[in-house]
Amino acid sequence: MTDKKHITVTVLGSTGSVGKQVLASIDKYPDRFKVVGLSAFTNEKLLRDQIDKYAPKHYYYPAGGVEIQSSLFDFLDDEKFSSKCVGSLEELAEYPCDILVSAVSGIAGLWAAVATLKRGGILAIANKETIVCAGRHLKALEKKYGGKILPLDTEHSAIQQCLAGEDEKYVKNVILTASGGALRDLPVEKLAKVTAKDALNHPVWNMGKKVTIDSATLFNKGLEVIEAMHLFSLPPEKIKVVMHRESIIHGMAEFSDGSVKALLSVPSMSLAIESALFYPHKAKDSVPELDLAKIGELNFSAPDTERYPCLALAMKAARMGEGACIALSAADEVLVDAFLNGSLRFNDIPTTLEKVLAKFGKVKEAALEDIYGIDAEARKYTYSVGVK
Ligand SMILES: NC(=O)c1ccc[n+]([C@@H]2O[C@H](COP(=O)([O-])OP(=O)(O)OC[C@H]3O[C@@H](n4cnc5c(N)ncnc54)[C@H](OP(=O)(O)O)[C@@H]3O)[C@@H](O)[C@H]2O)c1
Repeated sequence: MTDKKHITVTVLGSTGSVGKQVLASIDKYPDRFKVVGLSAFTNEKLLRDQIDKYAPKHYYYPAGGVEIQSSLFDFLDDEKFSSKCVGSLEELAEYPCDILVSAVSGIAGLWAAVATLKRGGILAIANKETIVCAGRHLKALEKKYGGKILPLDTEHSAIQQCLAGEDEKYVKNVILTASGGALRDLPVEKLAKVTAKDALNHPVWNMGKKVTIDSATLFNKGLEVIEAMHLFSLPPEKIKVVMHRESIIHGMAEFSDGSVKALLSVPSMSLAIESALFYPHKAKDSVPELDLAKIGELNFSAPDTERYPCLALAMKAARMGEGACIALSAADEVLVDAFLNGSLRFNDIPTTLEKVLAKFGKVKEAALEDIYGIDAEARKYTYSVGVK
């Protein structure tokens, strides 16, 4: 520990939806946690407020140091004025802290995750694109340097908890639940006309834009299947998806004797976040009490493949290999951006992903150093075939 009194935490992507929720959880326990690192990409105002509040030792902001506005009395507390802007996310991750939370979006989080594990650190990771593209390498680094990967995705956090203490030889399947996203009740023939505003209106979860659109296409669940494959060292056929609109059961593990363990809670990311921050202990009241009698019923169904072609494409990529997974994840970032800015139709997301998959299926295993290259090629190709 760098600060003996506190558990020290760096939050990458502190200005995003997950990053802000992590800081809100930390705020509940000021005597337990101390924020020592923060990062933003475009939101200078919020980063400035966060630096003012937490006085981290280091922060990363690509445009350089931010001017810190302090209240009149704060000038006595000169700690925050020594907050230093570093040159990259990776450099920030190299500084010691007890837990590094990676809540950046996209492949930008790759080298920071690698740096954390290379110093044997605890990596609490929401940044699913990094796990999708480099999960095999991250698991190898975890083993080699004695660090720990703690997933912040609610489903994977739930499954990790279901698997705790179990012998992996008895694990038959793991099961991810899916709420179905904003368009789950819209007739399939109307999907062609949906706007970004329609697709961003998630019925259960309040998340960043990219992950909310990915929930509407269910590509997000496909990424989660690939994530689960790496995190739990399972082949793709042992990872199942079930639709569950109430989002009360987050993840399950099925064992050789036919038994199934599930983790249930009121839907809130706080449980996964605080499970990681307190690991291996438990926090107090991360989420409100679950009143099953009041909820009354829980519903389950198989995913509708006509409504959600992106799920099948991601699962196909999982079977094809790492090149396909990296390319599909990169292409989806481009396509979701284009859909959000109105230059692509909703139904063009799966049709373009299909073309990307046909082109980038060959690489079974990708070296860490080759990931950015495949990612860049896939983006270029996506622009050439799908995005004006
Ligand atoms: N939201 C959820 O509930 C949820 C749940 C599970 C997993 N996840 C995963 O968690 C990650 C973050 O999701 P989110 O919803 O919190 O996203 P978000 O709200 O868009 O926030 C992304 C964060 O990353 C920063 N960022 C974006 N691009 C960057 C780049 N190129 N370099 C450095 N920093 C960059 C942003 O900075 P600025 O804001 O300053 O631009 C922001 O702090 C994603 O991988 C997502 O799939 C999210």
